[in-house]
Amino acid sequence: MTSQWSPDSWRALPARQMPDYSDSDALSHVERELAAHPPLVFGGEIRSLKSQLANAAEGRAFVLQGGDCAESFAEFSADNLRDTFRVLLQMAVVLTYSSRMPVVKLGRIAGQFAKPRSEPTETQNGVTLPIYRGDIINDIAFSEDGRAPDPTRMLKAYSQAAASLNLLRAFAQGGYADLQKVHQWTLDFVRGSEQAELYQNYADRIADAMAFMAAVGITPETAPVTRTVDFFTSHEALLLPYEQALTRVDSLTGQWFGCSAHLLWVGERTRNPGEAHLEFARGINNPLAVKIGPRTEPDVLIELADMLNPDNEPGRLTFISRMGADQVAERLPPLLRKTREEGRSVLWICDPMHGNTFKSTSGYKTRRLERVCAEIRGFFDAHRAEGTYPGGIHLEMTGRDVTECVGGVQRISEENLGLRYHTHCDPRLNATQGLEVAFQVAELLGRDHTGSDLRRVA
Ligand code: PEP
Ligand code: CO
Repeated sequence: MTSQWSPDSWRALPARQMPDYSDSDALSHVERELAAHPPLVFGGEIRSLKSQLANAAEGRAFVLQGGDCAESFAEFSADNLRDTFRVLLQMAVVLTYSSRMPVVKLGRIAGQFAKPRSEPTETQNGVTLPIYRGDIINDIAFSEDGRAPDPTRMLKAYSQAAASLNLLRAFAQGGYADLQKVHQWTLDFVRGSEQAELYQNYADRIADAMAFMAAVGITPETAPVTRTVDFFTSHEALLLPYEQALTRVDSLTGQWFGCSAHLLWVGERTRNPGEAHLEFARGINNPLAVKIGPRTEPDVLIELADMLNPDNEPGRLTFISRMGADQVAERLPPLLRKTREEGRSVLWICDPMHGNTFKSTSGYKTRRLERVCAEIRGFFDAHRAEGTYPGGIHLEMTGRDVTECVGGVQRISEENLGLRYHTHCDPRLNATQGLEVAFQVAELLGRDHTGSDLRRVA
């Protein structure tokens, strides 16, 4: 692993979860075409994210990372992008107020297409076909044609990512992110729904703070910082031919950057030392994240840090803990202790989704909001006990009113999941559930300085 790195050095190593492209000429053709396309993000933006994450690693910022489990070609629309962006901003306002710190806003968006799967194939009515691996690889439709990995899908994913980023940048800088407006949407939500009154007191306190700011002259006109945000993108670096084709040398520094997104992460199933995904990741200078599940031994974290962050640079390495609500109290503390004792600079954030998935009585893969919140509480408790910093949350969510996760003020039940179950992979929190999580996390963040006035979601 310490040998020379190049954007294609991963090719000499075993690679899991990669599609089997039958036409290697077609694949090379697409790779060459992508390599000639412009990068989607720039080195300067990536460095800015890294310094914001360094602040979070040191307890001076909090990270909100969220978006679809799998983006799809079918759900691609301006409305979907706008709604997800909007709810992320609403959540960020609540978290900023409660933490009294900047919130780093990071979408699972504009590139989150490729999915690791438990099985390579799927059988229906006696017919066995390749498993669906995300729209960048094959089609969700169960047909021979649909499931055949098609490299030209990478070009479509690139153009969707480019168009998404274009709109997100416009929203972030063009006035849509105005703090007053964003919070007004939250006030409308808590006033418009009887059950959401639970959160009214909190939302009102934020409104009071804004009224005070306005009274002393801090308005969108006088303080442009209140109407723009920094918004960054991220996805799992799973499909390495795509990632390699978008890996570029930054003209200012001469460093390599993965230019498909600002942050790239390596999933729980592909983060094995000596294999392709970590080899690719170690050579790019982006901030990196790695998913950490309940079976991870403490020494593995040190091995990962040695490989991915040998200079112990703050902001370079994030561990995304995904233990499950039942296991977080037992599994997380020894891991936190190890990185603290070894003096490793890592940012810890909590993915309360992937350890809490179950099959509902109605047959849908789902998650219970109450368990999601329970894992986050366990994550905060573990950090408080170990003297480390709970630096953020990582959610699968959408701005649309889907019915994919159970619970919350809308009381979505297992029987109702079929009403609007649209995800291409794992179940997402809807806009209301996302905001509820933000209010629950606000209580945890604000425990030290604002006192608590929320009851827990039943
Ligand atoms: C994901 O984040 O969608 C995912 C597949 O997670 P994990 O690698 O933690 O299973
Ligand atoms: Co998922």
